[in-house]
Amino acid sequence: MADYEDKNTLEKPYTLFNNETGVSFEIPIIKSTDGPDVLDIRKLHEETGLFSYDPGFTSTASCDSSITYIDGNKGILRHRGYDINDLARKSDFLEVCYLLLHGDLPSPEDRKKFINVITTHTMLHEQLVNLYRGFRRDAHPMAIMVGVVGALSAFYHDSTDFSDLNQRMIACHRLIAKIPTIGAMAYKYSVGQPFVYPKNNLSYAENFLYMTFSVPTDDFNINPKIVKAMDKFFILHADHEQNASTSTVRLAGSSGANPFACIAAGIASLWGPAHGGANEAVIKMLEEIGDVSNIPKFINKAKDKNDPFRLMGFGHRVYKNYDPRAAVMKESAHEVLEVLEVDDPLLKIALELEKIALKDSYFIEKKLYPNVDFYSGFMLKALGFPTSMFTVLFAIGRTVGWISQWKEMIEDPINKIGRPRQLYKGHRSREYQIESSREKKSIFNWLWK
Ligand code: CMC
Repeated sequence: MADYEDKNTLEKPYTLFNNETGVSFEIPIIKSTDGPDVLDIRKLHEETGLFSYDPGFTSTASCDSSITYIDGNKGILRHRGYDINDLARKSDFLEVCYLLLHGDLPSPEDRKKFINVITTHTMLHEQLVNLYRGFRRDAHPMAIMVGVVGALSAFYHDSTDFSDLNQRMIACHRLIAKIPTIGAMAYKYSVGQPFVYPKNNLSYAENFLYMTFSVPTDDFNINPKIVKAMDKFFILHADHEQNASTSTVRLAGSSGANPFACIAAGIASLWGPAHGGANEAVIKMLEEIGDVSNIPKFINKAKDKNDPFRLMGFGHRVYKNYDPRAAVMKESAHEVLEVLEVDDPLLKIALELEKIALKDSYFIEKKLYPNVDFYSGFMLKALGFPTSMFTVLFAIGRTVGWISQWKEMIEDPINKIGRPRQLYKGHRSREYQIESSREKKSIFNWLWK
């Protein structure tokens, strides 16, 4: 805990001064252990009557957290102090889950216990199968994910009381354990194949691939390199600080909503193409580009202010440098394509697009680099996942991040309901009057005469 101790020491405050009223407000500074310190404006409204204005939270820290650190300018991502490159290359997903949830790497004994508890919670309540059958076969699997994860609270009442530490931990374990089963079942339902039950002798990633791709009529054998690539994919998506879906989970949880409902809210937020939906959008975009010769046309579209088109898989709110996850993902995608001997023509377009964009002044000036979603789609496509499943895979990896952030918030003594304020731009007070012309025109006046 030593490196957290100085967190609340205040430095010389900033002072806000209003020339007209002569009122001043001292803004204390709270020190971080790494990265920007923050201005503590909690008393701003009380003392000045003003709100701060920051749509999209570009300059606002919504909470304090000890889980993930990002330095967007240097392209650094660390979980609990460990670099993402080290974790992706040397660790495995369940160890990273333990690290995010508990704050430290597990001892060999804790590791064994944790793997055991996750492995033995992978099955779903049998009644949930009926819920799947209520969906259309062509439903988007993310729609099924939102529905089924939200419905977990109707099946696991004994882990919805978040004030009880034991129930909190059980909910965390259940979510990490069951989310691959839920995702695999969403896939099986869409292709009309029987659901495959989890197997306790398989690793987390292998079990997910087994539940997704095995069929009762055949043996299931998978190359360990593919299992490793899947595991790495989950590590790369495990957490990413206060992004849109994580903030959604925290906001939902701040009202006291149960953890399953909160994670369902996170999945809904992740679905958008500006967030987790980008991996699906990248492949669609590359298919639309169709040929290397069309790249300049699409680059120009992305640069045109009057065209809503954006290069999917490029740019990030925080990274103003190469996304560190993208570099590992690119390597992983190449490995998978090689192992499976897949020659994807879209990869050629992607590599050329990246090369051209990285040299273009528009992308250089705006610091738009490829993000994790730019390369993940190739790997997932080569593994046989349909594009509609890509964001589901992101959600499986991110569940541990969401639930760790939710737990941290619940255990934070400053935990307050999230309730932003607004800059009101609507009408001022108006007198209520029914206009006589509107009264005459109404069809109901005529009907009820
Ligand atoms: N293509 C073309 N122009 C872009 C792009 C892009 N992909 N991204 C940003 N810009 C431009 C944007 O038009 C704006 O220009 P101007 O200053 O002239 O108005 C400038 O760059 C800043 O963009 P912004 O939208 O204000 O930046 P933001 O931080 O609000 O948005 C983003 C970040 C990720 C939503 C955005 O870069 C984007 O839409 N990228 C494509 C979608 C994508 O790949 N999303 C995955 C993000 S990584 C996975 C995850 O964590 O979810």
